[in-house]
Amino acid sequence: MAATTPQNAGLSAVPSYEQEQSQARFDALIEQDSRIEPRDWMPEAYRKTLTRQVSQHAHSEIIGMQPEANWITRAPSLKRKSILMAKVQDEAGHGLYLYSAAETLGTPRDELNDQLMSGRAKYSSIFNYPARSWADMGAIGWLVDGAAIANQVPLCRASYGPYGRAMVRICKEESFHQRQGFEILLALSRGTEAQRKMAQDAINRFYEPSLMMFGPPDEQSPNSAQSMAWKIKRFSNDELRQRFVGMIAEQVKVLGMTLPDPELRFDEETGRWIHKELNWDEFMAVIKGNGPMNSHRLERRREAHREGAWVREAAAAYARKYENSEVA
Ligand code: 3HC
Repeated sequence: MAATTPQNAGLSAVPSYEQEQSQARFDALIEQDSRIEPRDWMPEAYRKTLTRQVSQHAHSEIIGMQPEANWITRAPSLKRKSILMAKVQDEAGHGLYLYSAAETLGTPRDELNDQLMSGRAKYSSIFNYPARSWADMGAIGWLVDGAAIANQVPLCRASYGPYGRAMVRICKEESFHQRQGFEILLALSRGTEAQRKMAQDAINRFYEPSLMMFGPPDEQSPNSAQSMAWKIKRFSNDELRQRFVGMIAEQVKVLGMTLPDPELRFDEETGRWIHKELNWDEFMAVIKGNGPMNSHRLERRREAHREGAWVREAAAAYARKYENSEVA
């Protein structure tokens, strides 16, 4: 697919000479694997799909704080509590980097927040599943953050500069998140029978939803082809899912646990992992807002926004006072 057609470049049917020059410069930057920066001309459709993806990514980081935050007070030791607190704080920072990157595309953060809190914006399906036990903190770190790493490392090379650069910092912290989760499960797998059972139950519940984090199958992905032509996405949903399955199929052996997928095997002939058919009806229901925890997550986000109003007002008052003193 051509990087951009006049239709999706937001150009008039008969583009002017200047528009053609801008388009040619944009296409050349993409072709050279260079970066598009906020001040560069870009097709409106490129801006739109990036605002969509980057803001949804930011929303995912912020909503993703909730399942783990609920377990900070119930962590089994001071060490586990401090690690979990550090992780949740990291996720908040990831959200802020990504909102800052999204704002460079022209949509103010307040508007992005409104889109989330009003239920108009998507965030990652995975966070609409409940975290029922301490072992879920391990399964979330190992599987969810593991899937996030598989998806986010290629995004470090996204063609849009602020997005790719935000990803570099986020991926460094994501590896700590994945390792601490794996280590929680490893400790449980070496514990009592009840602890082993708790760990296996968490893996069973998070396995399929973590595979669905990568998005629908390629043939049902309306955004992928164009995002890959614009080098926002470097690999397709299925390609990244394959990588992730290959990773966890080996790692689960170290835990002495199993993945809840009797069909899982590596097909030497095709070089691909065969896994169970995923429940895409469930996936569509979750991303339409009908998952087990959607309403709870959004209500908690709205409540946090209300609780934080005084901080925003104080910061704004200080900024006004500072500006006035500057002017005086
Ligand atoms: N959850 C919610 N919505 C999803 C989804 C998911 N797991 N996967 C796909 N969708 C949505 C898409 O947003 C799109 O809807 P839209 O057009 O209204 O935005 C629709 O389903 C079709 O999917 P596509 O494959 O066509 O969409 P994309 O090309 O955007 O691919 C994606 C989806 C792979 C999630 C891509 O957007 C992406 O790579 N995003 C950046 C990474 C990201 O957001 N990760 C979320 C997890 S963050 C996280 O895990 C935090 C960590 O610290 C734990």
